[in-house]
Amino acid sequence: MRNLTQDNITQAVIARFADTPDARLREIMTSLVQHLHAFARDVRLTEDEWFRGIEFLTRVGHITDDRRQEFILLSDTLGLSMLTVAMNNDKPAGCTEATVFGPFYVEGAPHYEHGADVANGAAGEPCVVRGHVRDLEGRPVAGARIEVWQADAQGTYDVQREGLGQAQARGVLVAGPDGGYHFRSILAESYPIPDDGPVGDMLRATRRHPWRPAHLHFMIQAPGHETLITHVFRNGDRYLDSDAVFGVRESLVADWVRQPDGSWLVEYDFVLNRAPAAPGQGAPA
Ligand code: BEZ
Ligand code: FE
Repeated sequence: MRNLTQDNITQAVIARFADTPDARLREIMTSLVQHLHAFARDVRLTEDEWFRGIEFLTRVGHITDDRRQEFILLSDTLGLSMLTVAMNNDKPAGCTEATVFGPFYVEGAPHYEHGADVANGAAGEPCVVRGHVRDLEGRPVAGARIEVWQADAQGTYDVQREGLGQAQARGVLVAGPDGGYHFRSILAESYPIPDDGPVGDMLRATRRHPWRPAHLHFMIQAPGHETLITHVFRNGDRYLDSDAVFGVRESLVADWVRQPDGSWLVEYDFVLNRAPAAPGQGAPA
């Protein structure tokens, strides 16, 4: 095919994907080309702007490594991560809502007993976190695996702190027979997402701030239940309505209550959705 024009190039490119054996891949590539071309037409993209876009994505790639995931940051700040979470976590009313995973989850977090201090030396004001894990019928989910991670008082996660070599302010607990959990940690504080790279440049150029409201990350897993990836956000935080990554849900906002000894307490109960029935099976009892 020669002499393609701006009017027929889109169809020509889509036709080139027609033999893709994987139907889902064919659908995705077709739609991607359609929308990319529509975008270029919509803004009448200049060659200079196209090249600046290529340079931007090149910088996103260059700064990405094992500890820094600029592509996830880009997806988060464009709202794509939260859109994907929202589309894929349409749970029944009463279930705890999901939100973004974020780039600071690390596998292999240490396991703790109830009441232990998961801060493990991370800087911050002392805080107790407690609550229950239940199912939609209000029954305790005994043995649920509860993983928590959070930033310290300086707004950094342990993985961001050069040469630390140990887990801080992250850990795994197992819910008790009544579904209960409790642990000690540090006060959640608002913090800026990493903004010393191309995503930070994009935020500054568009007069956006990089801040996330204070939160704890949770991942909760239990057999027969859908894995829940979510946050608990600190009520009163000034960034609740302008989260840089669009992750706040009203139902996830909780009060951090100052205790007489100056420490903090936050209580939050999680409600897990039942796992989707395997093909050919009815809903679990
Ligand atoms: C976080 O909450 O850890 C996070 C989420 C998205 C982008 C950056 C950080
Ligand atoms: Fe976070």
